[in-house]
Amino acid sequence: MALINLLAPVLLCFLCFQPEFAFSDLAADRAALTRLRSAVAGNTLQWNVSSPSPCNWTGVTCDDAINRVIELRLPGDRLTGDIPVNTVGNLTALRRLSLRGNRLSGVIPSDLEQCSELQFLFLQNNQFSGALPATLFRLSNLIRLVISNNSFSGDISPNFRNLTRLTHLYLQNNQFTGQIPVLNNPFIQFNVSANRLNGSIPGNLASFPVDSFTGNQLCGPPLNSCSVEGESSKLSGGAIAGIAIGSTLGSILIIGIIFFLCRSHNKSRSSRQAVQDAASPIPESPEKPSEYNFRSPDHIMASENTGSEEGFSGRPDSNDELTFFGEGGFLLEDLLRASAEVLGKGTVGTTYKAYLDHGGEVIVKRLRNVCVSKREFTKRIVCIGELYHENLLPIKGYYYGKEEKLIVFDFIPMGSLSSILHENMEEKSQFTWEVRSKIAFEVACGLEHLHSHNLSHGNIKSNNILLNPGFQAYLSESGLIHLVSSSTTSLSGYRAPELIDTRITSKEADVYSFGILILELLTGKDPTLLLNEEGIDLPAWVQSVDEARWKNDAFDTDLVKNNDNTEKITRLMHLGIRCASQYPRRRSSMSEVAKQIKKICKF
Ligand SMILES: *[C@@H]1O[C@H](CO)[C@@H](O)[C@H](O)[C@H]1NC(C)=O
Ligand SMILES: *[C@@H]1O[C@H](CO)[C@@H](O)[C@H](O)[C@H]1NC(C)=O
Ligand SMILES: *[C@@H]1O[C@H](CO)[C@@H](O)[C@H](O)[C@H]1NC(C)=O
Ligand SMILES: *[C@@H]1O[C@H](CO)[C@@H](O)[C@H](O)[C@H]1NC(C)=O
Ligand SMILES: *[C@@H]1O[C@H](CO)[C@@H](O)[C@H](O)[C@H]1NC(C)=O
Ligand SMILES: *[C@@H]1O[C@H](CO)[C@@H](O)[C@H](O)[C@H]1NC(C)=O
Ligand SMILES: *[C@@H]1O[C@H](CO)[C@@H](O)[C@H](O)[C@H]1NC(C)=O
Repeated sequence: MALINLLAPVLLCFLCFQPEFAFSDLAADRAALTRLRSAVAGNTLQWNVSSPSPCNWTGVTCDDAINRVIELRLPGDRLTGDIPVNTVGNLTALRRLSLRGNRLSGVIPSDLEQCSELQFLFLQNNQFSGALPATLFRLSNLIRLVISNNSFSGDISPNFRNLTRLTHLYLQNNQFTGQIPVLNNPFIQFNVSANRLNGSIPGNLASFPVDSFTGNQLCGPPLNSCSVEGESSKLSGGAIAGIAIGSTLGSILIIGIIFFLCRSHNKSRSSRQAVQDAASPIPESPEKPSEYNFRSPDHIMASENTGSEEGFSGRPDSNDELTFFGEGGFLLEDLLRASAEVLGKGTVGTTYKAYLDHGGEVIVKRLRNVCVSKREFTKRIVCIGELYHENLLPIKGYYYGKEEKLIVFDFIPMGSLSSILHENMEEKSQFTWEVRSKIAFEVACGLEHLHSHNLSHGNIKSNNILLNPGFQAYLSESGLIHLVSSSTTSLSGYRAPELIDTRITSKEADVYSFGILILELLTGKDPTLLLNEEGIDLPAWVQSVDEARWKNDAFDTDLVKNNDNTEKITRLMHLGIRCASQYPRRRSSMSEVAKQIKKICKF
């Protein structure tokens, strides 16, 4: 029986390929890859061409059962020039092709249609040009197609209708049945933004989000309708200021000003005075916000000041105040007067660091799309706020007004785990095995504590792990995801496969996300970036690397630089993979996971 299983794919090959492909095998794939190598060079020059099999070449994955190359991933590998025919097009068993972030140009090779198994195609951030070729629309198995930031031109062909899996994914494993619509479907991805495409968008693509199409001359849903000639899409002052604020992480802002943008056009002298006191010395400008160029920080500040001219109605809901847990409270007015800095935008809202006048800094989260009543909100926050654990970020206080919902946290100096791992901060050199394993353990303990109170976190990711200068880890945003209705369509590398709706969470899903976090700590790879740009989740990526080569190819180089903990790292990696099992029942409980980490790391 096992033999039949082994033979089945081979038999299928004979049945479905034309005679000239009947003898396609690994040797032919190898020859196609070497032809590609001579054409595009870059890091493929490091392939060991004296090796008889291409399967160990970086970026190449084979399926041993069918003895073919099934994945080619060469992102950011400094490839240049055109992709000739008889290269990628001859890899007829290919399921995944990622050539993103190179300097490839010319047209998509016309023989790509021979890769009829292709499900994932990532060509973004290159210089490909020409019309979207008919060959693309014969790849009927595609479920992710990302060709953004190239120079493709011409219309979006109605032939997209032929890509039925891209517009409706039917799932047939035992966890899901039936069809999942495009929106919020974590499996499907489609992006043609930032090209030179024109004309109207075919109807069956209309359910993709706007930012799948922007940066072209396209029209029709989900963009503006095609009939209106030259319709200008001027943004409101508020929206423009919002964009400016969003795009200047790190610039000093005034929290109070942010309130104006959402508020009625009712002016109040005294309040405006308060804000001007806190604002930078840049003079107010009478110009309209829409006339600013947001490239320079000066203009951004100016636009904010103009924002203050738009009107400010004083304190939100003047009867309400911030509610604090324990000592160290301050007035809402103190908070509004404080200067603030945007730290980031996340699933639940925007995070600011606020500098209070009387000294002291706090983190303020301004929640977006809160979908629960004040009573429910208070109940949940109090429940989380009263949980104390040294690895959970304490909630200081909260505010629930008609328009604004704020949560105030203690300020933790170092920043997030994500920023240290992925933004090349110099602290990363201190990110040794000892530090990383300790962070994994501490996060596990914080999460175990939440779970032991029958709460799930719902949004475990490296952005939500804050570190102090001794690298003590604090898990933030516990349970906040339950308070907001999220309409995000972007893929998250941490989301358990059984979750379709972001608001539904479970302890098992937390364990999954935690497993991803372990793999992220050990590989240094950003799981969301990997998923969005290469269509592969981190556990699959780790498992695509031969375990014998983990030390060189999978572990973060900063992790193995100085000393050799390969065995422990390998064991922790396996634990991460088990936590991130596709099947919720196979994941251990958080208390079990914490115990295992302790055992592996000998704390
Ligand atoms: C390249 O492959 C050959 C044959 O498999 C092997 O003998 C040689 O050691 C490899 N070279 C490197 C640098 O890995
Ligand atoms: C790949 O390399 C590993 C060790 O580096 C070796 O054991 C394995 O046989 C190689 N596989 C192929 C197909 O060459
Ligand atoms: C590549 O595929 C083409 C079919 O398009 C075939 O004619 C050609 O022989 C293949 N090249 C090699 C070297 O196998
Ligand atoms: C677009 O692609 C180029 C490489 O061709 C890259 O340098 C640039 O950063 C990309 N732009 C965006 C917005 O990703
Ligand atoms: C798409 O499908 C239609 C009808 O099934 C067919 O006529 C057309 O040739 C297909 N387009 C491509 C590019 O294969
Ligand atoms: C789209 O652009 C092409 C040139 O790239 C032009 O020939 C064609 O007329 C344009 N079509 C529309 C509908 O604007
Ligand atoms: C499409 O890619 C662009 C970058 O080129 C990005 O800004 C946008 O968010 C992406 N859209 C989707 C839906 O992923």
